[in-house]
Amino acid sequence: MKRAGIVGAGLIGRAWTQVFARAGWDVVVWDPVESQRASAHELVSRALHESAAHGLVDDPAAAAKRVKVVATIDEAVSGVDYVQENGFERLDAKLESFGKMDAAADAKTILASSTSAIVPSKFTEALAGRARCIVAHPVNPPHLVPVVELCGAPWTAPETKARAKEILKSVGQVPIDVKKEIDGFILNRLQVAFLTEAFRLVQEGYVSPEDLDHTVADGLGLRWSFMGPFETIELNAPGGIPDYCTRYVDWFRRYMADAPSPAVWDDANWAKAVEAWGRKPTPQQIAAKTVWRDDRLAALAAHKRKQKKHTD
Ligand SMILES: NC(=O)c1ccc[n+]([C@@H]2O[C@H](COP(=O)([O-])OP(=O)(O)OC[C@H]3O[C@@H](n4cnc5c(N)ncnc54)[C@H](O)[C@@H]3O)[C@@H](O)[C@H]2O)c1
Repeated sequence: MKRAGIVGAGLIGRAWTQVFARAGWDVVVWDPVESQRASAHELVSRALHESAAHGLVDDPAAAAKRVKVVATIDEAVSGVDYVQENGFERLDAKLESFGKMDAAADAKTILASSTSAIVPSKFTEALAGRARCIVAHPVNPPHLVPVVELCGAPWTAPETKARAKEILKSVGQVPIDVKKEIDGFILNRLQVAFLTEAFRLVQEGYVSPEDLDHTVADGLGLRWSFMGPFETIELNAPGGIPDYCTRYVDWFRRYMADAPSPAVWDDANWAKAVEAWGRKPTPQQIAAKTVWRDDRLAALAAHKRKQKKHTD
């Protein structure tokens, strides 16, 4: 039986717990906060049943039975094949967790972090077992959005990345290889570039936030839910990507000469876009809409599972 250790049982840690448990793994979960430990099993079990309603989990009760919440970090990382760390997004927290994990885990156990933006060399350099440490950055929520960015430090062993890739694939995720460390990895760099232009267009009065959202939800995002930008542009010109670049390169150069500046993110400027957005949802309304989003994501994940991939 494969066993995963989950360190930190917040939003992301509980979602990872589902990923491994529904794939048939035993999962050992730890969080330093007692109330988080107390609620983790119930929350994971409920979410597994919700996913089952979309056909994403075969036997939610059996999956929930494979989850065990433990009282110490050592219990969560001993005797497991793979550890996923999901504590707070602070360097000191990652340093502390990885120090403890490396000291307690078996030599062959992979130690992966969910960190969104801290490159692994910042928190693994001094560890005896640094070669088995890696970042496996998921997208929220990882039980419904499968991509995982795998990024090693210069000293991460190639076998660590290869084995992490194999493990993540085997539990239904889609690992991608970040070939060398870069701030923000891949996904968040794309997201920042996109958001910066979106904020600029709203701040400068070219479009309302609602219509910008339509441009994505009823436009770009429809293709992007099953093909990436390279695949997309290949079909946007009869001669494929070289034809596309030749046709549009002049406009792309003009755009880059007038690309948004860091001032887009000055407080007074981003506040203009927030004012245009106008809504001020309460935390309860945000939580309710998150439930709706996860339900829609689950339906999309179920739809995508049934689709045949186009083969060239
Ligand atoms: N939320 C997202 O959209 C998202 C997406 C991808 C990656 N991440 C990353 O995942 C990690 C967790 O984020 P989250 O959204 O689940 O946060 P969260 O606040 O929901 O959960 C963090 C959990 O870590 C626990 N914790 C505190 N100190 C700890 C320690 N020393 N060791 C282990 N656990 C500790 C907390 O009690 C809490 O339960 C962060 O590194 C974050 O950057 C978050």
